[in-house]
Amino acid sequence: MKKTSAILLTALFLISCSHFRMLPYITSENPYKGQEATAATLGKPLFVEHCVRCHGVSGMGDGDDLTVPLDKQIADLTDISSEKPINVLAARIAVGKGDVMPAFRGIFTEDQIWQLANYIVSISVLPFSQEESS
Ligand code: HEC
Repeated sequence: MKKTSAILLTALFLISCSHFRMLPYITSENPYKGQEATAATLGKPLFVEHCVRCHGVSGMGDGDDLTVPLDKQIADLTDISSEKPINVLAARIAVGKGDVMPAFRGIFTEDQIWQLANYIVSISVLPFSQEESS
């Protein structure tokens, strides 16, 4: 009996792990508040080097990375920031999503992750959601 609950707890812990790792971003504010344009300018070259192969130059998900399974929908980043607050975007860049979107924590500094998030907001064609989740 005790053993079963220990296994269950471990499983729950593992499942919640990726959300746990998102926390530092989800609970913080955009450190570039008021300087979003500068941050976006810094984020652009990082995006070109690391993200365009999947997300495309436009960010719409039309990259040409042949390792991505054809049935896999690559997120269209030009409309995502109207649905998701910037801190959720930053968290996703850090932690990754699903089995294709890589985790960039460790490749980028925290500042660079926020620069990328600000860049994504800057290419959004839809109004940006001002609300920050906490
Ligand atoms: C190997 C391909 C690949 C690369 C490289 C890649 N992405 Fe993604 N990305 C994806 C896929 C696929 C999804 C959709 C994941 C899903 O919804 O399951 C995604 C989703 C996202 C999302 C949306 C997450 C959400 O909350 O729905 C963001 C933001 C994002 N990527 C940013 C980036 C940034 C910034 C970079 C570069 C630093 C990058 N991606 C590099 C494939 C990639």
